[in-house]
Amino acid sequence: MADELTILVGTMTGNAELCAEEIEEVLGEDGITCEIVLMDDLDHTVLDSSRLYLVCTSTYGQGDVPDNAMDFYEDLKAKKPDLAGLRYGVISLGDRTYAQTFTFGGKKFDEVFAELGAERMGEVFTHDASSGSLAEEDAAEWARGWAAEHIKTAEAA
Ligand SMILES: Cc1cc2nc3c(=O)[nH]c(=O)nc-3n(C[C@H](O)[C@H](O)[C@H](O)COP(=O)(O)O)c2cc1C
Repeated sequence: MADELTILVGTMTGNAELCAEEIEEVLGEDGITCEIVLMDDLDHTVLDSSRLYLVCTSTYGQGDVPDNAMDFYEDLKAKKPDLAGLRYGVISLGDRTYAQTFTFGGKKFDEVFAELGAERMGEVFTHDASSGSLAEEDAAEWARGWAAEHIKTAEAA
C-alpha cells in the first residue's frame, strides 16, 4: 500500500529531520505509514494533488527557509503549479530569540501552498528552540493528534 503521509523536510542542522523520524515512528505505531523526503533537489513536479503532505522545516537568515529548501520554495513561487486538492500540514521550527521572524520558514511554505490552492489541515505547529523542550518530542505528540483528525486509516475507513 502507498504511504499515507509524505513528510517534506527542510533543515540545516537536523532538528526538522529528527522531528520527521520521530513522527514516522509514532504514527507507525498507529498503523500510519510515512515517507520522509528531504527537500534537497525537489521541484514542484514531485507534488501530487491527491496526497497528504506534512511540511516540516526550520527557519534561517532573515526568516528564510533553510538552504536545502530554498530551490523548492523558489520553484513553487516561480512556476505556480495548481495545487487544488492537495492537503497539507505544517511544522515550523524556529527560535523566539529571532522575535521578528519567529518560525517564518514554515509560514512561508504555508503561504505559498495556500496561494497555489492547497488546503491546510489544522493550525501551523510551531516550536521554539529556546523553550527548553525537544522539538522532536513536541512535534511527534502534535502529529499524533493531527493525524488522528486528518488521516483515515484503512481500518477506520
Ligand atoms: C544562523 C541562524 C539563523 C536563524 N534564524 C532564525 C529566524 O530568523 N527565525 C526563527 O524563528 N529561527 C531562526 N533560527 C532558529 C532555527 O530555526 C532553530 O534552531 C531550528 O530548530 C533549527 O532546525 P534545523 O536543525 O532543522 O535546521 C536560526 C538559527 C540559526 C543558527
